[in-house]
Amino acid sequence: MDYEAKAREILNSMTLAEKIGQMCLGFISNENLNEMLEAIRQGKYGAYLTYADFSDKKDMHDKIMQASRESRTGIPVLYGKDVIHGHFTVFPIGLGMAAGFNPEFAEKVFSFIAEEASSEGIFWTFSPMIDVARDPRWGRIAEGFGEDTYLTSRMAEAAVWGLQGRDPEALGKQEKILACPKHFIGYGAVEGGRDANTAEISQHTLMNVYFPPFLAAMKAGAGSIMSGYHDINGEPVSASYNILTHMIKELGGLDGFIVSDFGTTAHLLKYRYAEDERQAVDITVNNGMDMDMCSSLFTKHLEKLVEEGKIPVGRIDDAVLRILKTKLRLDLWNRKVGPLKDKGQFKLSDEAKSLSVEAARQASVLLMNKDSALPLSKDIKKLYVAGPYVHARREYFGCWCLDGVSHVIEPVIDILKRKLENVEIRHLDYFMSELILSSEDYIDTVIYFGGEAPERSGERNNITNLRLPEGQEEQIISLANRGKKVILVVVAGRPLSLARVIPYVYAILYVFHPGTGGPEAIAQILTGEAEPGGRMPVTVPVSEGQIPLYYNSIQVRSDRPEHLKYNDMTEKPLYCFGYGLTYTDFKVSDIKVDRNEIRKNESVRVTVNVENTGTRSGEAVIQCYINDCVSSLLRPCKELKGFKRVTLDKGESKIVEFTLGKEELGFFNHKGEFIVEPGSFRVFVGLDCENTIDTCFVVTD
Ligand code: NOJ
Repeated sequence: MDYEAKAREILNSMTLAEKIGQMCLGFISNENLNEMLEAIRQGKYGAYLTYADFSDKKDMHDKIMQASRESRTGIPVLYGKDVIHGHFTVFPIGLGMAAGFNPEFAEKVFSFIAEEASSEGIFWTFSPMIDVARDPRWGRIAEGFGEDTYLTSRMAEAAVWGLQGRDPEALGKQEKILACPKHFIGYGAVEGGRDANTAEISQHTLMNVYFPPFLAAMKAGAGSIMSGYHDINGEPVSASYNILTHMIKELGGLDGFIVSDFGTTAHLLKYRYAEDERQAVDITVNNGMDMDMCSSLFTKHLEKLVEEGKIPVGRIDDAVLRILKTKLRLDLWNRKVGPLKDKGQFKLSDEAKSLSVEAARQASVLLMNKDSALPLSKDIKKLYVAGPYVHARREYFGCWCLDGVSHVIEPVIDILKRKLENVEIRHLDYFMSELILSSEDYIDTVIYFGGEAPERSGERNNITNLRLPEGQEEQIISLANRGKKVILVVVAGRPLSLARVIPYVYAILYVFHPGTGGPEAIAQILTGEAEPGGRMPVTVPVSEGQIPLYYNSIQVRSDRPEHLKYNDMTEKPLYCFGYGLTYTDFKVSDIKVDRNEIRKNESVRVTVNVENTGTRSGEAVIQCYINDCVSSLLRPCKELKGFKRVTLDKGESKIVEFTLGKEELGFFNHKGEFIVEPGSFRVFVGLDCENTIDTCFVVTD
């Protein structure tokens, strides 16, 4: 279909008020439902969102869609929801998905998510969240794909492809839904890790660190983009021509539309950037905003502003065309809105179960394994389990989950009891059970299931203390002091510093809130049925005092490391980016480039030999980093430019190959041009960002 022509045809039949209606996303709750139904019938809203549980009104969304079809234009309303990392079946939070270093798998997961959501009429999700984040104090670090631009970019395109389909025409299928990468741009850089705070970002960092994931998402076909709440260098992003129009529409080539975050138009007043509501609308629309989320200010002021000539009709037409084209691509006119499912009756399908367990396995990073404490020895006869996650269900879902069904989750203790039939597993609900710890001293292994409650991360949940929540360290230490061999499982929404407990434990399995499959995956890893599959998508600091601490810093004085030291603690991370152990060992050797010299528009092939030198089969995540040795703008000391997951049997070797071309070697200069500069490049390949071997090649003009 010629979407542009069809959208124009519809646009030409619309009144100004109807056009403005399309630019408004309304909020529906139980309280305003009838009022909103009527407003939608009058064409006052082009889209809506809700957080309400309408399980007592199963055909609600169908009714809302019908109301829009009864409007004069008959343009269907678009239902958007925060289906961030799962709908009924919940998958790991962003950090957990990123820990998989597996975009192909992530694409499958997002495709599954789209199918579950669209079955209830949710044809738009405010996902993926692709804000690069370098500050674990910020609660929303949980939602994104970590600190690395390249990994986030690959995950961003995978999410878009999964949700919308790779073929642009696929978006029209009933089971595909519209993606909305967010929060454009630099939201992860908020000062002090305080949510929605001001951000200071240089042009260099904006373009080279924060922009590429959005560019990748837009190239993958993302049909909408959400702008952030915050400001950059004193300019609210949702009021910036450079950010909305130039970066998203011109550089990114977005054919779809930009939606603000919740109430952002009104925030322009709170920020004292606009004098009154009218000015706020004037600024945001003139600078490129296409749809307002829930501030209701477009409804109140936009028509008048256009009539007075303050906002050109052409700008309104551009916004509405974008929205209509997207609705046409979604085939919204022919979409079926199914009734809301009875969540009480929800059962996990085999596909949902295996996908969610595999996703959770890949969200689990083995950080420490002294004396091969894991997998659990077959000789263990008695096991004590402790900690807040022993009986948890919903807690595994993480911070952004509206409709996840938790009754399908079996607590980890029950799974372990089933899997370890011959082991006596003891647990008392009151923790410091002197009973167990003193009268049953013969129990020598304890698994402590600790971590953060989901509410400790996510929106508005910023913290300054990156240690385990109060009391947990003491419990772990007291167990160890009684001579127990403590195995620590941490379920969390951010990288926490475990420095204090490390001397007391034998193994640490770090699991980013893993979703429905979490407890099963954890039990499989503990018992050795499965491998821990994740690698750290963020640097784990020793202490908050080191923040910001990320692997790909520019570090101008790396020639004189003593300048970069702290006098009172190490400047090194506790665990570096890309780190993660397996139950076997790998050796990476023999790094080669197929050519020592390439031209700027050519590419080089890098190969290494990877060998499984351990005692069982396993998966290695081979990572490829570069350093642009001399450049007109300083480049990071190392930057990830490729990764591959390879499975090798015991004793097996494989050649693993990476291709580095223009896209990997280039960067944005101050003029906003993407350039590859001639000169030497160093390439590093290894098992994490520190454990690498390297070689070099030269790029000529
Ligand atoms: C505010 C959040 O910042 C955003 O991520 C979310 O999608 C919207 N609210 C809608 O719920």
